[in-house]
Amino acid sequence: MSQRQILVTSALPYANGHIHIGHLVEYLQTDIWVRFQKLRGHRCIYVCADDTHGTAIMIGAGQQGIDEETLIARMQKDHVDDFSGFGIEFDNYGSTNSPENRALCEEIWAAIRKAGLVVEKEVTQLFDAEAGTFLADRQVKGTCPKCGATDQYGDNCDKCGATYGPADLIDPRSAFTGTTPEVRTASHLFIEIERLHEFLAEWTCSDDHLQSEVANYLAGHFLHEPLRDWDVSRPAPYFGFEIPDSPGNYWYVWFDAPIGYMASTRQWCDRHGEQFDDWWRSDQTEIHHFLGKDITYFHTLFWPAMLKTAGFSLPTKVHIHGFLTVGGEKMSKSKGTFVRAATYLEHLDPSYLRYYYASKLNPRVDDIDLNLDEFITKINSDLVGKVVNLASRTAKFVEKTGLAIKYPDDGGLFQQAADEGQAIADAYEQCDYNRAMRRIMAIADRANQFVEHAQPWVLRKDPDKAQELQGICTIGLNLFRQIAVYLAPVLPRLAEQTSELLGKPIVDWDESQTPLVGTPVGKFKHMMTRVEKKQVDAMIEASMKTEDNGAAESAVPYSDSGQPLADDPLAEICSFDDFLKVDLRIARIVEAKDVPKADKLLQLTLSLGGDRRLNVFAGIKAGYQPEELVGRLVLCVANLAPRKMKFGLSEGMIVASGPGGKEIFLLSPDDGAQPGQRAH
Ligand code: MSP
Ligand code: ZN
Repeated sequence: MSQRQILVTSALPYANGHIHIGHLVEYLQTDIWVRFQKLRGHRCIYVCADDTHGTAIMIGAGQQGIDEETLIARMQKDHVDDFSGFGIEFDNYGSTNSPENRALCEEIWAAIRKAGLVVEKEVTQLFDAEAGTFLADRQVKGTCPKCGATDQYGDNCDKCGATYGPADLIDPRSAFTGTTPEVRTASHLFIEIERLHEFLAEWTCSDDHLQSEVANYLAGHFLHEPLRDWDVSRPAPYFGFEIPDSPGNYWYVWFDAPIGYMASTRQWCDRHGEQFDDWWRSDQTEIHHFLGKDITYFHTLFWPAMLKTAGFSLPTKVHIHGFLTVGGEKMSKSKGTFVRAATYLEHLDPSYLRYYYASKLNPRVDDIDLNLDEFITKINSDLVGKVVNLASRTAKFVEKTGLAIKYPDDGGLFQQAADEGQAIADAYEQCDYNRAMRRIMAIADRANQFVEHAQPWVLRKDPDKAQELQGICTIGLNLFRQIAVYLAPVLPRLAEQTSELLGKPIVDWDESQTPLVGTPVGKFKHMMTRVEKKQVDAMIEASMKTEDNGAAESAVPYSDSGQPLADDPLAEICSFDDFLKVDLRIARIVEAKDVPKADKLLQLTLSLGGDRRLNVFAGIKAGYQPEELVGRLVLCVANLAPRKMKFGLSEGMIVASGPGGKEIFLLSPDDGAQPGQRAH
């Protein structure tokens, strides 16, 4: 097997949001592939960076009252922590806002200019005067001009399917400020990508550069007609790199973002005394991009066109994956399935998700579903029940003796599994991790049958069978180690634990081909625990409470509508002592029931911590279902004089705002507050 030189990238995450379990499909898929290549002895580097430019970052920074660089630096740190928490190991993690990236953008731009592909055209765009920015199509919302559906984006209507421009919307509003945008005209620079049509039509269909479904999609949606000029500049104000030969204009974020792959490689080269051109201008190097289906055309049309024009290597393969759904549905904040990487790590072991995604991933573009019940079963039955169990049932019996000097007759089990190595490697290579995991689990099944049948825990009671016991455990541990090698790209932590237990590091795939003999066995330390449903539930619950992190479209600044103060003036001044008479406490609603005979009331049982309970009748029936209240924290007046009502005694009051009826809003404390705490 000759050594390949491989450069691998994952899409650059936007610097305006945290990493979530959807992103992790991609970064784990890529990390597994990279670890696999390294284990096979290839020279492989994995580079990535934060994608930092564009309107959303500019506005996000403005809202937080910080400059863009500060926002970028903070998010970069969080991203790096999240990735390392999941064992995702980059060789370099850069930023598109780096001097290396600027220099490469200038170089590529000069080549595109020189090729005569740049044209200037007037563009009419909507402008948000309050935020001081032009608005992209999806940053404008309004009423569909065709069917009248409200709250539609500026590019198409999800009710009737009509496509249009943002200026066609009836009553357009900026997604950032809610104000009515004005129409402004500015001159933009375009790349005439149609001039590369023939090249792209050829490249997308040849040599397995793309999955066949992706090639078909491009042929049917883009390449069947002339390609439209690509608008690559934005007028000031824009957070990005200014175009050197067009002052006052900036490269559109999607121009400099993929160049970030190169800039990150350059940083790695500079640190390691390597030649950049050996990675980006050499036919000896393979370039593999991993990304999600939503950003297909940037990577399969624009990007190859840019590389081709500037004389760099073209991607060897663009690996495109589908989107994550949870329980068959889109991730949702309100359902708690929009789980941030950091929240996951507070509740569950990263190995679980690495394995679960691996067991689901295949080379197709299909969406993948995280089913939480299946997640629990898979981890407990495969990882804990089949894999780790092999070691935990054998290692302790050879702690004193070590492994046998000669590998005993195992009926061909080790050899059979060694022979499977190539098929498993092929599956990894093709990103068919699902197939790889199935094959590995079949090996684990056979190994478990062997141990089950040999019963080392029985043999150990008979001193005459010491040698047999050592032989059985030598086999069991070698089968276990073989599985740990095959799983090492997915479960690097398990590979480390195995290395520690058996005193031999797992650094090469070929470790799976020969059994270990005559080595000492360390003290068995527990390797992985079962997942409990309550841990998963706690993660979902915590995710429900996690605040929005201001992703692009949802970034709306605090512009409050209405003037309730005008029709509801403030009450007269109250002294601090008067205020203290009201004993406000945090309470948890532990029970909520409808009061059938009352129009407005729900009956609540509040816990103030310990066993202190209050019975409260609250007029919130129109706004809340009893089920959704149970478990949540509220603020209550705990020392209100009890009041006898038709339905029973009300012993307090919960605090809410709003005029009443459906418009009623309970107050919730921030995370960390405990029932019984006084609010003051
Ligand atoms: N910044 C761009 C990529 C620029 S690459 C030169 C971007 N960033 S992103 O943060 O929105 O997404 C990063 C990657 O995560 C993309 O490949 C995207 O497809 C992937 N995913 C984001 N959400 C996802 C799911 N819910 N499921 C699976 N992958 C998802 O796009
Ligand atoms: Zn419509």
